[in-house]
Amino acid sequence: MFRKLFKFGLEGKIKELKKKRAAVILAHNYQLPEVQDVADYRGDSLELSRIAAKIDAKVIIFCGVYFMAETASILCPDKKIIMPDTSAGCPMANMITAEDVRNLRKEHPRAIVVGYVNTSAEVKAELDVCCTSTNAVAVVNAFKDAKEIIFIPDKYLADYVSKKTGRKLISWNGFCPTHVQILPEDIKKEKKFHPKAKVIVHPECLPEVVAMADAALSTSKMGQFAKETSAKEIIVGTEVGIIYRLKRDNLDKEFYPASERAVCPNMKRTTQEKILWSLQELKEEVRVSADIRCRAIKAIDKMLKIF
Ligand code: 13P
Ligand code: SF4
Repeated sequence: MFRKLFKFGLEGKIKELKKKRAAVILAHNYQLPEVQDVADYRGDSLELSRIAAKIDAKVIIFCGVYFMAETASILCPDKKIIMPDTSAGCPMANMITAEDVRNLRKEHPRAIVVGYVNTSAEVKAELDVCCTSTNAVAVVNAFKDAKEIIFIPDKYLADYVSKKTGRKLISWNGFCPTHVQILPEDIKKEKKFHPKAKVIVHPECLPEVVAMADAALSTSKMGQFAKETSAKEIIVGTEVGIIYRLKRDNLDKEFYPASERAVCPNMKRTTQEKILWSLQELKEEVRVSADIRCRAIKAIDKMLKIF
């Protein structure tokens, strides 16, 4: 009861201050339920940046991980992009540096470089084109004439795209520590409990896991699949935070996490308290330097033209 009243009070304060600051709260699909509950918009990594660019607001409270807030800052430098906890990074994005990309180019001078949105702004500045898990296949298919294609940093997304496009890709040894927690035996076990359920997984999962799924989808596409499928039960192979949104949007369907171990600790750093503090202090701002931004936006714009 006390917690409920406290929570209501906190939500009320956030709402009030948000109005005063002309701010909008964006939350990734993996955020804690309490964060999703106070968000104005929920979405996948790119969706959120696109919303940030379009929305009429001076201040964006970005609840996600660092590269996502950076992407928003690249797309809308005129807005104040605030993260309630800037220590929320993405370990996969940290597995490659701008220098690594420059070295790859030296080794493969004829290659074009495709980079996942899960990269730092500095890495994006070195890319030919960016991609997300929604459009990675379309982006690679748009470069039919390329002699060689480097795809960084996720080796499992690269494997998935390579199988879908029939192209050999030069990949990097990056991966998501959360998605690799989902094992083939987890899918087998859940299938045994729920034999009628459809299985959807994120393409960051291990190839053996992707091979067992009915579909490999980005988090936004998972939302679309859940709405459109006639299946009443769905096993979900991605970060567990998405289950809250899927359930909320599809009250007539059941969703089962493929593995309870698939938790991204960085996505759980943001809380209602931190959102309130960030609105009170308008901190911490995420900004990308003009030089990096001008180079990084080219790779993002190229992607947006393709998809
Ligand atoms: P989405 O773009 O599919 O939301 O994925 C982001 C991410 O970090 C997946 O782990
Ligand atoms: Fe990065 Fe994986 Fe967390 Fe997504 S789930 S933000 S890829 S560590």
